[in-house]
Amino acid sequence: MTFKIRNKSSGREFIAEKLETVLAAALRQGVMLPYSCRNGACGTCKGKLISGKVDYGTYEAKAMSVAEKENGYALFCQARPLSNLVIEAKEIAVAKDIPIRIMPARVVQMEKLAEDVMRLSLKLAEGQRLQFLAGQYIDILLSGNQRRSFSLATSPLSDEMLQLHIRHVPGGYYTDHVFSKMKEKDLLRFQGPFGVFFLREDSERPAILIAGGTGFAPIKGMLEYAFAQGIKRPLHLYWGVRAKSDLYLQNLPAMWAKEHKNFKFTPVLSEPKPEDHWNGRQGWVHEAVAGDHPDLSQHEVYASGPPPMIDAIKGMVKKHRLPEDRLFFDSFEFAHAPAS
Ligand code: FES
Repeated sequence: MTFKIRNKSSGREFIAEKLETVLAAALRQGVMLPYSCRNGACGTCKGKLISGKVDYGTYEAKAMSVAEKENGYALFCQARPLSNLVIEAKEIAVAKDIPIRIMPARVVQMEKLAEDVMRLSLKLAEGQRLQFLAGQYIDILLSGNQRRSFSLATSPLSDEMLQLHIRHVPGGYYTDHVFSKMKEKDLLRFQGPFGVFFLREDSERPAILIAGGTGFAPIKGMLEYAFAQGIKRPLHLYWGVRAKSDLYLQNLPAMWAKEHKNFKFTPVLSEPKPEDHWNGRQGWVHEAVAGDHPDLSQHEVYASGPPPMIDAIKGMVKKHRLPEDRLFFDSFEFAHAPAS
């Protein structure tokens, strides 16, 4: 049995197969509904159900409140249609033309950028390219229908050679493998590109880019793309980590700051070590942004990092007058080994 879904906002229609979520059906047919975690944790995929019935699936309370559900909202990454539906959801106009594909790639280089960060360089098969938007991510496909998401750390102008920054999460189902067993020349398969975290090129507003740890990866891709395109609007990167050794590529943004007048770089350490001899900014990265920019009403903010950092930034929206539709974020959820 299939169900027809119509998005009232765009007039577009798509079909959901049996047990398929609204989001999965939409993406399969090139309807780019926004999403981030795809596991009911972030609320990015929330939209309105105008008519029809769904199985709401499982999700975290912070992603959708009881009141929102009662007012007709659903999380489309979890909701499965039980009838034909009319929904109301914003669509990503730019990304909709990019096909999501499954592709093989070879690991051509593995470099430890820090004790717990590996740079993985992946080469696509001869003649193949991945079209994506700067800041998007791919899913590495694993056995047993497992998948792990990693942001692309390169600009889309490099569409044959991709790079990922993988942080080792001890006990992490995939990252343990990367740090202990993976070797150069290994083959893997991935699916992508995914995500709505990409640089909005139709804006001239000053952009603040906030990275937490390896959240630097997609922001690096965005900035390299912006520089290559000659984008002149002000770009200010805040990179928050614990100690100096966690700023695993700090020479790169320092170099950009010298080369590009419109770019500023502020590293922020939350727990500098005595041997760091740190004279720079200290504390939480979102507090550094808030201190420098009490009024964000004219800015765009791009944030990428662990969920507590993203939650703290979301909490700044009202107080610092940042319009909600000018906050773009990518929340990194870390997966551990599945229970056996
Ligand atoms: Fe659906 Fe995060 S809750 S994408």
